[in-house]
Amino acid sequence: MSNPSESEYRLLQARPDECCLLRQLLNAGESFVSGSQLAHDMDLSPPAIWGKIKKLQAFGFEIEAVRNRGYRLVKQPEVIHPALLELAVKAHGMEIPCLYLPVVDSTNNEAERQIANGRRGPFAVISSSQTKGRGRLGREWISASKENLYLTVTYEPRLPLEQLQHFTLWCGIKLCEALQGRLPNFPLKIKWPNDLHYEGQKFAGMLTEAKLDADGLKTLFFGLGLNVNSKPDNLPRTPQAPATSLQTIGGETLPINTIAALALKAIQEAFEICIQNTDTEASLAEAWPPLDSLYGRAVTAELNGKTLAGIAQGIDASGALILETKDGSQQMIRTGDVTLTQF
Ligand code: BTN
Repeated sequence: MSNPSESEYRLLQARPDECCLLRQLLNAGESFVSGSQLAHDMDLSPPAIWGKIKKLQAFGFEIEAVRNRGYRLVKQPEVIHPALLELAVKAHGMEIPCLYLPVVDSTNNEAERQIANGRRGPFAVISSSQTKGRGRLGREWISASKENLYLTVTYEPRLPLEQLQHFTLWCGIKLCEALQGRLPNFPLKIKWPNDLHYEGQKFAGMLTEAKLDADGLKTLFFGLGLNVNSKPDNLPRTPQAPATSLQTIGGETLPINTIAALALKAIQEAFEICIQNTDTEASLAEAWPPLDSLYGRAVTAELNGKTLAGIAQGIDASGALILETKDGSQQMIRTGDVTLTQF
């Protein structure tokens, strides 16, 4: 991996003046905010405010400007905007620093470079497109669509690895629950261990990577690829499962900056469950079953190089998938891939 100081990727910061302007426009809802009010609050001239409005319009914000009334935000852009993201993150009660790069090789790689360059966790790396997005088991994660979300949250927990053994499962649970709030009529599920599904179609994948040393876990990188607003024609086709997006599921474009903040909050909640020891056998046994897309389904799984067929029966206390085979025995699947044999 290249030296972080040589990273060729552009890092965009949320500009305080843009945050201030957007906060006022957002707070006003459907009402207008007068140019002179904005100029007074931001200690700028009205032409300077107009200049900033034009810059936001050029980015993709629809802002109505009416003489003697002022400005009104009509529509947010459908891509990540650093100031909008920062406001959404704060509105969700989060403090986590967010590094936004319009393009990057992989947000997990960038997070690693940031750590190597001395940045301390927790922090999030968010991008609108990855040139080398990667998935589990050495697969590629196609990441060209700016309407989707690619992010990595980095933590530096000084904890034994076992304490984080269910972290990815909890991330799936918390992400499903949070996104379900935006799509109440469409049951979102987890396909053990790392995918989020709707009716057998995948809309998100999770990739957790860790660095260990003699004292245990050093750095935890949680990567999330979430198909937010990509249209059916734009969805990556993978042999493992047909892909979908939140927009395709619910039929409505979702505010991607708010969805990013929601996802960051869900990941933080999952992390807190693990570090505050509320990750108990009972809490996992309660949260998992309603979201388990595989329960009672015929699946095949790889175990010790062999393909096993059986019926998925939930997870055990360690988080392994329980597979009941034809002879009635139970096999625990701890890693690898599971394929549905019937939809
Ligand atoms: C999978 O389903 O195989 C996991 C996909 C994880 C993709 C995300 S996108 C953000 C982060 N950066 C990467 O390169 N991969 C993860």
